[in-house]
Amino acid sequence: MKAFISTVLVSFIIPSALFVHAIPTPRGSGDRVVDRSTMTHLYEKRTADIADIDKLVIKFADVLEQLEGGFYKLALDKFNASDFEAAGFSDGDVPLQQIQIIQKDEDIHAKVLESALEAAGASPLTCQFNFDAALYDVGTMLATARVAEVIGSSAYSGSANLIQDPKVLSLAAAILAIEGSHSTVTNILSGSGAAVPSPFVVPLNASEVLALVGGFFSGPCDTGIAPNPALTITNAADLRTGAAVSLNSTAFDSSSQGNLFCQILTGNLTETIPFPLNECTIPYGVSGPTYFWVTDSSDPLPNDVIDRSTNTHVVAGPAITIIDCDPQALGIIAVEGEVPYTSTYDSYVAEASPTNYVGPYGCWFHGKSCQGTH
Ligand SMILES: *[C@@H]1O[C@H](CO)[C@@H](O)[C@H](O)[C@H]1NC(C)=O
Ligand SMILES: *[C@@H]1O[C@H](CO)[C@@H](O)[C@H](O)[C@H]1NC(C)=O
Ligand SMILES: *[C@@H]1O[C@H](CO)[C@@H](O)[C@H](O)[C@H]1NC(C)=O
Ligand SMILES: *[C@@H]1O[C@H](CO)[C@@H](O)[C@H](O)[C@H]1NC(C)=O
Repeated sequence: MKAFISTVLVSFIIPSALFVHAIPTPRGSGDRVVDRSTMTHLYEKRTADIADIDKLVIKFADVLEQLEGGFYKLALDKFNASDFEAAGFSDGDVPLQQIQIIQKDEDIHAKVLESALEAAGASPLTCQFNFDAALYDVGTMLATARVAEVIGSSAYSGSANLIQDPKVLSLAAAILAIEGSHSTVTNILSGSGAAVPSPFVVPLNASEVLALVGGFFSGPCDTGIAPNPALTITNAADLRTGAAVSLNSTAFDSSSQGNLFCQILTGNLTETIPFPLNECTIPYGVSGPTYFWVTDSSDPLPNDVIDRSTNTHVVAGPAITIIDCDPQALGIIAVEGEVPYTSTYDSYVAEASPTNYVGPYGCWFHGKSCQGTH
């Protein structure tokens, strides 16, 4: 495993050259390229004396940034522009440029968080990851990137309430906004998804995040946080409106399924939609990033990370998939280079022709129903 994460921890001032590359085209002699190492310096000073809970949040955020940055680093080692073209992009440099920029952002996030931790007298964790399955091909890599960015945004949103120091909160918010931007870019690169699929992300606590990303750890990574039991969607590729959802976990066996419930949540809902586990189905109107929990109560779980964190009925999860029901011209252009006047374009004109429009998330893409992408 390539371990950019185990390289020397940040020096006080990160070489400015690193950042110059993160900005593809300086826009002219009048514009100054912002040297983000100044930010590192700033946050180090401000985080010298912070609460233990803040250190824990920063440490956890750093692990996620290491995970993301390490994943993109390996993706860039493995795939070149021709590989993206072989995977369907009309111009492979279009996705490649975005992945390069995102990788540098994640790397900088990790370094800034590590500087803040060290300034506070705490040590960052050094974790090892295995991304072999996620890097199987360009499509799998991009689908994983898309989900990772959604989880990243959910993790920062779900930790905000714990942070004591307003300056740490401000740093987290500054990073969160960029995770959201990455999410938009990776949604566009999917070609089939909405650029901004929901007005809200689902805030997740650290135990929930670990249930989602724990599979990437290839060695001990002691965050000090107990993960929720992991949950797997065994038929993720088939998920669309009305489809049955099959979930499994080591936390329950098939004989107990009759007493368990599947809970479905998107950012736009105030609470989960419950089903008996063996009748779990994607409801009409559910699309975009979609989370599943298994509970031993039919009561819905709140879309409120504070209240949900004290819920005692969660058996496993969440698991995540992204359900695409509304392909947009922007994504089609990113992949195909133009919006063709056949098939995919039908969905685009559907907006202007409501009689042909099957519903807000009715599924007409390529004549198929809603597709899950992960
Ligand atoms: C891109 O990578 C593929 C293998 O994934 C290789 O066959 C090809 O020669 C590379 N193309 C360029 C332009 O480096
Ligand atoms: C969010 O929910 C509102 C209210 O139910 C609905 O009008 C809107 O279309 C939903 N938007 C998305 C993106 O789900
Ligand atoms: C869940 O299903 C997947 C895919 O079918 C399988 O690989 C995995 O072993 C199962 N896990 C459990 C805990 O049953
Ligand atoms: C996170 O929420 C889960 C419910 O999904 C709860 O069981 C767990 O204790 C919470 N963890 C933390 C660290 O709050």
